[in-house]
Amino acid sequence: MDEMIRIAAISAMGDTDHADRAFEVMSPGRVNLIGDHIDYSGGLVLPMALDRGTRAVVVPRTDRTLRGFSANFPSLGVVAADLDRTEYDPSHGWFSYVLGVVHTALERGHDIPHGFDIYLDGNIPKGGGLSSSASVEMAAAMALEHMFDLGLTATQWAVLAKDAENKYVGVACGIMDQLSIARGRAGHAILMDCESLDCDFVPMPVQDFSVLVASTNYPRQLADSAYNDRRLAVETARRIMGEHRGETVTHLVDVTLEELAAAAGPLDEAGVASFARHTVTEQARVEAAAEALRARDLARFGRLMRESHDSLRDDFQVTGRHLDALAAAAWATPGVIGARMTGAGFGGCSVNLIAKGAEDAATTEIAARYEDAVGIRPEFFLVNPADGAHLIPDH
Ligand code: GLA
Repeated sequence: MDEMIRIAAISAMGDTDHADRAFEVMSPGRVNLIGDHIDYSGGLVLPMALDRGTRAVVVPRTDRTLRGFSANFPSLGVVAADLDRTEYDPSHGWFSYVLGVVHTALERGHDIPHGFDIYLDGNIPKGGGLSSSASVEMAAAMALEHMFDLGLTATQWAVLAKDAENKYVGVACGIMDQLSIARGRAGHAILMDCESLDCDFVPMPVQDFSVLVASTNYPRQLADSAYNDRRLAVETARRIMGEHRGETVTHLVDVTLEELAAAAGPLDEAGVASFARHTVTEQARVEAAAEALRARDLARFGRLMRESHDSLRDDFQVTGRHLDALAAAAWATPGVIGARMTGAGFGGCSVNLIAKGAEDAATTEIAARYEDAVGIRPEFFLVNPADGAHLIPDH
């Protein structure tokens, strides 16, 4: 273990006993290359785990206390709870993402016989669309599996963590974030089927391009309620399409554009036609993008990224002025193969593919264009596709 992080952890926690039993977990963030707002409609998405994320030092305890300290929220200090009282409490702040996983595991009958101390240090911007919360959840999940041998697979932990986020934290997210963080593979994007949870790994020709994440540096506004509204709209569209077909539609992504056109009346009346259209066209774009990536047809991949952004702006209405300006800045910049918003939207980040060698010039130009448009300096992170959450071997 990195001695610095061990010392930081031990001193932040104060009286940590059994520090010699400490172990370390790396849990990445994720960026989605294409396929947004269709994971909860059973769609295909193409994310990758990042070589940035959350490092956790975990020290098993002998009593039933759970304690956490995050270097990213030092003002909260050490947050504590008890294994026998893990109910949601907003004053726990970031620690709720750990407690939610513990609480959900206990609720499902998993045996967690003693508590632990967990020290976190993350290097992904919080609330920026790179899934810092799912990264913390999966760090907790890996720690629980390591300490208690609960026998869950990475995919099962991802599902448990997603359920924790839905029911404990109260955000109606889909499975994409937790599953990409659980299943990531270095050098690969993940073609993820959000219905079957199957993951196909598509090699990323990283010798040809760099993945550049750009943050709008614009705080997300009412993102959770807007997200939940979109989910409701999609659910309404699914129901309407079921009535139209005369049989249940399980997943809106399975509907065709022709069927949508035939049901335009009721979809329009309910105000959900454009949300349904995005869902159906985005699914087709992900299929085409995975094919393009396999064929190393980057120009095509880039065009699909742009079409995806347009659809998220015009049909799904989740981009907003800042993300639109950031994407437009990239589209106008030489060396940019493709650019689009990524994740939930409403602020947050864009993802950009940049031709090898053009990174510095492109970053400077995108920053200047974006700042000109909205008066805010963006922030950039060059990222690589990395492995999913794992234990860091001791050395
Ligand atoms: C958030 C959610 C995901 C997914 C994306 C949009 O990141 O957590 O489940 O819905 O938004 O694609």
